[in-house]
Amino acid sequence: MTSLITIKGIKQDKRAFNIEWSDGHKSTFHYMWLRDNCPLDIHPTARERTFNFMSVSLDIHPQDYSITSDGILKVNWSEGANVSEYSSEWLRHNCYTLKNLKPYQSPYHLWDSSLMSSMDKIAIDCDEIMSGDEGILKWLSQLHHYGISVVENAPIANKSGYEVLKKISHCRETFFETPFEVINIPNPNNSAYTALGLHNHLDLPYYDVPPGYQFLHCLINDAQGGQSLAVDGFKVTTYMQTNHPDLFNALVEIPVKFCNQDYTQDTIRVQHAPLIGLNKDKDFNEIRFSIAYMGVMDCAPDKMDLFYRAYRIFADLIHDERFAIKFRMKAGDIFSFNNRRILHGRTEYDPNSGKRHLQGYYLDRDEILGRLNYLQKIRV
Ligand SMILES: [Fe+2]
Repeated sequence: MTSLITIKGIKQDKRAFNIEWSDGHKSTFHYMWLRDNCPLDIHPTARERTFNFMSVSLDIHPQDYSITSDGILKVNWSEGANVSEYSSEWLRHNCYTLKNLKPYQSPYHLWDSSLMSSMDKIAIDCDEIMSGDEGILKWLSQLHHYGISVVENAPIANKSGYEVLKKISHCRETFFETPFEVINIPNPNNSAYTALGLHNHLDLPYYDVPPGYQFLHCLINDAQGGQSLAVDGFKVTTYMQTNHPDLFNALVEIPVKFCNQDYTQDTIRVQHAPLIGLNKDKDFNEIRFSIAYMGVMDCAPDKMDLFYRAYRIFADLIHDERFAIKFRMKAGDIFSFNNRRILHGRTEYDPNSGKRHLQGYYLDRDEILGRLNYLQKIRV
């Protein structure tokens, strides 16, 4: 309840206000930061900053200031004819001293093969999603925290996955088109379009930013075999970090080459990126792992042995049953997962034993997080 906390004292130094609060917390508010973030200079409908910080010098400072009886800090600036106003509540909410003191908390619920005994944690009925925001929020939460969700009882008409995904946002287009048809075809341009088993992998690692989420909508699955596999890449990576820290560091640091030369496209795609990407808080951001789309590795000669030792252990773990869940998709399921965290695969199936047809869609991660933030009403 930040509104109950009031400003107890305020002091100035050359560059900043130093505020002491009624609960004892102390904040620093840099003058340029204050001027730059003045709440009065936000466009009412565009919600964009209208103030241009290049219009003042870095030496901008208060000509004078006051605090009103209801706790509003008013600042008359040394440059420009502006008076800025900041409520105590706004200052406290945006206090960057406090934000930097707060320890980082990972949003991820890591899992291993034991998830198979509690699949209800990552299941949701399609009707829940279609009937309102509560269901959508539940689905997005599963996707964000577990990285995986299985929607059940969705319609099975051609391209009907669109209606469900529209509850989140628009799809990410790729050259595989939307939806992409996961069926057994002659002369396939991707091994997913065969009946072969697939190693655990992410899709499209040769893109600068691979699609954030993937949705495999099962229209029919009457063939023998074709079990779906999923592994939490962040869980495997945590294991690597704990048990093989040097090899973990190698996978964070050594760029790997991914290539795609799809014969149906006049395109050659080449991307260098490490297998493990971290975010600003050193939490996991993404995994890139696809044996099929590895290019001819070209890291520095003195790193090659280290790389292969690390890559081999990582690959073994990604295919280790201790980390994998295995399940059979049924018609009306939408196997939904974070394509940059969850490695997915399948066992071989017999195309002569019955039909198997999935339709696939991609969405960018921004669409999942953006909708989740909106439904959770987070304040920025
Ligand atoms: Fe795939």
